[in-house]
Amino acid sequence: MTIPQVNHLLELLYDRGDGYFVSDELTAAIGVDRTRLEKLIELLGHRGHALERNPARGVRLASPIRLDAHLIERELGTRRIGKHVICFDELDSTNDVAFDSARQAEADGLVVLAESQRRGRGRMGRKWLSRPRSNILLSALLLDPGKNLSQDALTIAGGLAVAEGIEAVGVHDVKLKWPNDVLLETRKVAGVLVEVRTVERNRAVVIGIGVNVGAHPHQELLDSPATDLVSELGHDVRRIEVIRKILQRLDEWVYRISEGKLEELRTAWLRRCGMLNERISVACGDVRHVGWLLDVSPLEGLILSTDDGRRIYLQAGSSRIL
Ligand code: BTN
Repeated sequence: MTIPQVNHLLELLYDRGDGYFVSDELTAAIGVDRTRLEKLIELLGHRGHALERNPARGVRLASPIRLDAHLIERELGTRRIGKHVICFDELDSTNDVAFDSARQAEADGLVVLAESQRRGRGRMGRKWLSRPRSNILLSALLLDPGKNLSQDALTIAGGLAVAEGIEAVGVHDVKLKWPNDVLLETRKVAGVLVEVRTVERNRAVVIGIGVNVGAHPHQELLDSPATDLVSELGHDVRRIEVIRKILQRLDEWVYRISEGKLEELRTAWLRRCGMLNERISVACGDVRHVGWLLDVSPLEGLILSTDDGRRIYLQAGSSRIL
């Protein structure tokens, strides 16, 4: 009985947003007396949720609201992604923890979240920096014994899911820079790192997503400009809402990929790419390719027409636009 009651209390407080509750409203809604309510509030505290008490107005959840698996999983409505969610205060990398669960068949779709990472990784061997309790650090695990899920297609799907997820909370014109830097104008607000490992002879894929919500790293720590959602929108943003939207969109794209429906992925990505038919420079390891951006193929990569008339394909895992 205790956990459902704590969850119920948390839902009530969360759903009221900035508003307060007087104790009598809460005791009536949950069907407990005041002593029991205080006990439930104490248990909520053990889960990391502090309450703000105002003598005249009552209680409400203190900001920033801690990540909470129940609030994320509740009525999420996804087929695969986010059926199980776990939240950590601190870990090395959410991608690694997701891979650690890959031995268990029921871990397919697991989502790992953290308030902070000690060794967050970005693409191309870079670090991913994030101020604790401010941003989204998320990894989704997919078990793929049949090898149906292309890493490149999932990389594109990750960027699209983030772009659509953050638009759902009010930012506009989110662009994608190959393969999946998520940009607001020229400023990076999120990044995606898709990794593949073999775990007990099974293929495991982790889609790692970092979104700057309440903070972004200092310019001198980065090689390109960055931003965060709160700075762009000028008001507070609930991380849990952004996470839910991203998971819902990611679930949809992963479903389409698993069904072999890749054309929509291609057109959705092209709509968000500001560089179609432009002359671009792409780094692929130590090699630099210059040419006109013609198209994207979810399975084969970015399609470039080079000056010597060749058409080349650059895979998402190993290339980036300079
Ligand atoms: C990029 O370089 O743009 C990709 C950044 C990906 C960062 C995320 S944060 C959650 C997950 N865990 C990691 O260690 N990296 C990814």
